[in-house]
Amino acid sequence: MLKQTLLKATEAGAKVLQEYFNGTFTISHKDGINNLVTEADHASEKAIFEVIKSNFPQHYILSEETGELVQDSNVKWIIDPIDGTINFANGIPICCVSIGIEQDGKMIMGAVYNPFMHEFFFAERGLGATLNDKAIHVSDKDNVGTSCLVTGFPYTYLDQPNGPLQVFDRLIRAGIPVRRLGSAAIDLCWVAAGRFDGFYEHKLQAWDSAAGFLIVEEAGGKVTDLKGNYYNPYQPGIVATNGNIHEELIRWIEGSM
Ligand code: IPD
Ligand code: CA
Ligand code: CA
Repeated sequence: MLKQTLLKATEAGAKVLQEYFNGTFTISHKDGINNLVTEADHASEKAIFEVIKSNFPQHYILSEETGELVQDSNVKWIIDPIDGTINFANGIPICCVSIGIEQDGKMIMGAVYNPFMHEFFFAERGLGATLNDKAIHVSDKDNVGTSCLVTGFPYTYLDQPNGPLQVFDRLIRAGIPVRRLGSAAIDLCWVAAGRFDGFYEHKLQAWDSAAGFLIVEEAGGKVTDLKGNYYNPYQPGIVATNGNIHEELIRWIEGSM
């Protein structure tokens, strides 16, 4: 029932994205000039909430645009109604709905759906990860020098010592390809599918990574914070890799390689 509701909620949100994509919708700004929220983010969130609340009215919900619906429950839904809003607002089909489910403080299920590429990623703890119902696995690359990486940049925090721009500069100057897709949830799923060997980002929110980090782990990858410690989605930094390049990528990020 939990899984069916998750799939249904993710599909309901994605249907809204398809309805609004390339059409006209209102756009408002959050705290920065390019930190946008569109009418579609709110409509997607509403559609997702409706599915969850009709099946599990007692569950706790944390969602990007609405915030927290605090309830006395050991199950928490963590929702990003559109991850990759700037792409979405510009008609770039790299955006998705991302929903993770946490039980007793542990992520147990995650779904990420990009309806424009017809890619539905799903994972359940202990049961592996899938893309459109087919099992996926991380890559087997064993060094950063020959890896293809992906990252993202926050709107603030850029100028911290050894921050996102410095790490990017270091990797790019060494000739290592580092892409920037604009959707952390898709970045993570593409690591899980073996398209990227590693992903790192300095400042994410729980809804960006909740589903994707479980999908990477269940695809055989490794996810930690920026220092290599146990990953907790409520802290900002993340490194997600195929496992083989993990320690080396952390040394590149720290500048200690
Ligand atoms: C953003 C995307 C982006 C990441 C930003 C996030 P949003 O989420 O995941 O890739 O670099 O940090 O805020 O705003 O499109 O939901
Ligand atoms: Ca997001
Ligand atoms: Ca979002």
